[in-house]
Amino acid sequence: MLQSDSASYCCCMTDQGTWERVDHYVEGKLLAPDATLDAASAAGTAAGLPAIAVSPMQGRLLELLARSIGARSVLEIGTLAGYSTIFLGRAVGAGGRVISLEFEPRHAQVARSSINAAGLDEVVEVRVGRALDLLPGLLDEGIGPFDLVFIDADKESNADYVDWAIRLAHPGSVIIVDNVVRGGAVADPNDPSSGARGNRRMFDLLEGNEKLDATAIQTVGSKGYDGFVFALVR
Ligand code: SAH
Ligand code: DHB
Ligand code: MG
Repeated sequence: MLQSDSASYCCCMTDQGTWERVDHYVEGKLLAPDATLDAASAAGTAAGLPAIAVSPMQGRLLELLARSIGARSVLEIGTLAGYSTIFLGRAVGAGGRVISLEFEPRHAQVARSSINAAGLDEVVEVRVGRALDLLPGLLDEGIGPFDLVFIDADKESNADYVDWAIRLAHPGSVIIVDNVVRGGAVADPNDPSSGARGNRRMFDLLEGNEKLDATAIQTVGSKGYDGFVFALVR
């Protein structure tokens, strides 16, 4: 390839249409037709839930990361329609456990129905309430430690969720936080949105944190320009 071709891919073809085309292309290559996941997504849409679930390739990454560490117990904060939950439930498999926390009873109801249709009733438990109200109960009940925690709820509370994830983790646990870039807003100190402020508070908590090692990866795709934190508990 000529250097100029390469440069054109770096500077000109980086737009939402391209990102969607590429996601569509790689999904076709890497994800076998999956009626269960398609139905879970459609159920969320039909119930009027917001279209903010992880993309198919992001869900697949969650599944593969969980399988990579042999995760048997997963905590998810933010269930929505259960789309990411199904990837995580499949990753831990029979005998594994996923606890997913969801504030909206209607979301939980839709999710439970799709989790049931996915054959994951025995694996996944959806608990309804504000996550910050439910998390102490997990500790009190002696549930956990969790091998993987996926944080994907209100971004305002991300710092608190990371704090709780550490408390509910063991050395070697993985913590993943979705939506930490938000189109670049995280790095704009003047951005007043509560999500950007919440994520900056989370990065303040990660900064120099002696309990974990972390990286943040910017992403583009069908969900636009965003990113995630991947942390490994020491
Ligand atoms: N993980 C899902 C998407 C979650 S969207 C997926 O990828 O498929 C975020 C969800 O977090 C929404 O359903 C929202 O109702 C829920 N949520 C928002 N604030 C919350 C809170 N304080 N506690 C628990 N859930 C919350
Ligand atoms: C929003 C939430 C998400 O979890 C996400 O992945 C994308 C958007 C939102 O609240 O706008
Ligand atoms: Mg998200």
